[in-house]
Amino acid sequence: MSILRGDNGTVKKKAMEILVALGEIFNANKLIDVGSTQISGVSYKTIGDAGLQWVESMSSEKVVIPSTLNPTGMDLHLWQQMGISQEFAAKQIQIINAYSKLGVKSLCSCTPYLSGNTPKFKEHIAWAESSAVCYANSVLGARTNREGGPSALAAALIGKTANYGYHLDENRQPTICVDLDVHLHEESDYSALGISIGKKVNNGVPYFTGIKNPSVDSLKSLAAALAASGGVALYHVESVTPEANSIKVGGIEMINFTSDDLASSYDSLSTIQSGPVDLVTIGCPHASLSEMKKVANHVKGKRIANNTKLWVFTSVGVKLMAERFGYLRDIVKAGGEVYTDCCMVVAPIEELGFKTMAVNSGKAAIYSPSASKVEVIYGTTGRCVDIAVKGFA
Ligand code: F3S
Repeated sequence: MSILRGDNGTVKKKAMEILVALGEIFNANKLIDVGSTQISGVSYKTIGDAGLQWVESMSSEKVVIPSTLNPTGMDLHLWQQMGISQEFAAKQIQIINAYSKLGVKSLCSCTPYLSGNTPKFKEHIAWAESSAVCYANSVLGARTNREGGPSALAAALIGKTANYGYHLDENRQPTICVDLDVHLHEESDYSALGISIGKKVNNGVPYFTGIKNPSVDSLKSLAAALAASGGVALYHVESVTPEANSIKVGGIEMINFTSDDLASSYDSLSTIQSGPVDLVTIGCPHASLSEMKKVANHVKGKRIANNTKLWVFTSVGVKLMAERFGYLRDIVKAGGEVYTDCCMVVAPIEELGFKTMAVNSGKAAIYSPSASKVEVIYGTTGRCVDIAVKGFA
């Protein structure tokens, strides 16, 4: 009550009011402690001056739990190489500085779980980036709702969130069972699956059967796609994800996902089928070390076409490891560029002259035509890199 009275200052009061309002809307019985936050609303492209002012209005206070930032609109060191304008960069740096004053770590990645902000099983957290929320709930078994930027920041300042939604056992039960009749190989296959099923289930909880030995990268791609095309924040995979075997699957709708469904999802993600391609992007969500290796192996000994760019987006930590293992060298030697702190969706791609983009991420494929005003070709990592080398699809 004292925080709501304003005894701890107006910023904490504002933060507590956000949490209490959410609790009232969703009938939460109490506020609960959270172990970390992950805060979205960082790119100047997406939050603009109004967002910047809001963050600055909060920055007289400090967060009380570990908190990391989502990607910004540019590589914080290589923004000039990307072609970002001085004006954009100045605003972006102002946003980062405001969050830094708050004590939020400028990790600037949507895969904080690969870079040290890794919640424990059943740990309550308050994360905002939808792909990270879906991964944390599903693959790590942590518990978070899809926070907005302001509510995640409020949780960071108070150390608590309202106890509703995916924090409660009853909301973590599956609502639909999806049986796969097709074997998935590539991350882009999982992404295409996620896009297709996300559209069908909206904010339901899919339970997948028939997925064999998926990699971390595949589960990451599936999480991002389900969260992007629907509002999925949690999925289960039989014998794979940590809660899958302790929940009841009976009495819910069952659907199949076939090779035809996979092919039609691939088709739906391209807005054009062929032609010159200006930009090829990999790393949505941010590329893991194994994805960096995959790209490096594909480009090794080749040369990116003159009129095409290959941009790989990753986190600072993964880039450092990729440098040590030689993957960065192979990508750069071929003419590719590796950027941290940002991505193809929240960077101002539309201001950089790109008109066509090839991508291996379903999330980027559905957001980029409107967010970045580009035509999109969707394909596997290998196909995307081949396009970068040829310059056309
Ligand atoms: Fe991450 Fe940007 Fe994709 S924030 S999930 S790389 S849209």
